[in-house]
This record gives sequence, structure tokens and C-alpha cells, in this order.
Amino acid sequence: MRELVIAPSILAADFARLGEEVDQVLAAGADWVHFDVMDNHYVPNLSFGPLVCQALRRHGVQAPIDVHLMVRPVDRIIPDFAQAGASLISFHPEASDHVDRSLQLIREQGCRTGLVFNPATPLDCLRYVMDKVDLVLLMSVNPGFGGQQFLPGTLDKLREARALIDASGHAIRLQVDGGVGPRNVAEIVAAGADTVVAGSAIFGQPDYASVIADMRRRAASGPGVS
Ligand code: DX5
Ligand code: ZN
Repeated sequence: MRELVIAPSILAADFARLGEEVDQVLAAGADWVHFDVMDNHYVPNLSFGPLVCQALRRHGVQAPIDVHLMVRPVDRIIPDFAQAGASLISFHPEASDHVDRSLQLIREQGCRTGLVFNPATPLDCLRYVMDKVDLVLLMSVNPGFGGQQFLPGTLDKLREARALIDASGHAIRLQVDGGVGPRNVAEIVAAGADTVVAGSAIFGQPDYASVIADMRRRAASGPGVS
């Protein structure tokens, strides 16, 4: 199993002190910055865009910025995020008219690619673009809001995605997003995830380092150990 990547979602951070929050969570042991982009169109909420990503880079953030696009259309905004310093850009296939083209566009712009599957979206299209995908993200809540409950059906879907990825032979990371925290990270990792997003579970606690360490410890110990 690859080393666990923990990507705190800054949707749950204090926006008035965003640079400081990101510095703190990275110093606390986080690996990536998960950047949730919502447009009040594809999802019923509005968050932040490329200017905020650029501001974090100018602030000095060097860690990978993992941009999760919950927007429609997808392609128009991809170059803006690439220029703003995104490392990886993921999108929902339902939001793009041409999934293969969007994936190619992200790579042409110098970023890694991600394809995101909502809880009720089958993994079907993944089979045809395995060579163009660097990350598969399974939503374990319906996208649009932080602080929701993890949907347990994600565990079977994770096993399905893990089998597809392993059979493909490609180095694709498998990420989970929504309702993830110390209580369920072990079963999520045991089901095949190697990358986890956590918003409220991390930013909702006073000590980011202890939550992140707890998540790593539980993930390494496996399910059933507390
Ligand atoms: C949901 C977002 C998630 C969310 C995670 O649309 O993609 O990244 O903010 O938040 P928690 O960890 O609080 O469920
Ligand atoms: Zn997200």
C-alpha cells in the first residue's frame, strides 16, 4: 500500500485567516491542500476560485494544491487554475461534455488529472481513460457542503475502484472525500483508498497535528483497533 496522503479541505478553514490556516495545517503534517471550488450551478454552494489559489501560492504555500472542481462548464476554468498554481485538477464527468478532452487539457496545462465520482455515479467511463487519469476521487457525500455524514456504500465502491486501478497497471491515486475522520479512516484505507480529504474533522479541532497523527496511526493499525 502506498503512503497515506492526507489532504485537508480548506472549505472548513477560517477564510479570514486562510494563509495562516494553510501554513498551520501543513506544519501539522498534512500532505496536500484540498481546494473545493463550488459554483452555485453544478453544486448548490459557492466557495472560491483561481484568485484565492494564486493568493496561497504568493503567500508561500509550496505543498501540492489539489483543486476539486465542482463547476460547470469545466474546460473554461482549467487554464486559470493551472496559471494560479494548481498541482492537480479534478472534475466530475457529468459536468464536462467531453471528459477525455478535459483530461487532456489539464495535462497540457502542466497539471495532474483527477476524475470525481458522485455517490450514485458509476465508474464506467473510468475504464476508457485510465491512461489519462492520475487520481480517482470517490465522493462519500453528495458534493456541495462540508460537515456531512460519510455514506457507507462508498466502501464497496472503493474496493471496485481499487481493483480497476490495480488491474490497469497505472499509478493512479485513489482518494475519498466527505465525512472522513479518525473514526472511519481505517476502514476507508482498508477498502483501498490511499488519499483522504478531511475538512471539518481537522479544522474543527483545535490541534491539527494531533488529528492528523491520529488519522495516520489508525490508518496504519487497520479497522477494529482504536
Ligand atoms: C464536499 C467537498 C468536501 C468537503 C469535505 O463537496 O468536496 O471536500 O468539504 O468536508 P468534510 O470533511 O467536512 O466532510
Ligand atoms: Zn472536495
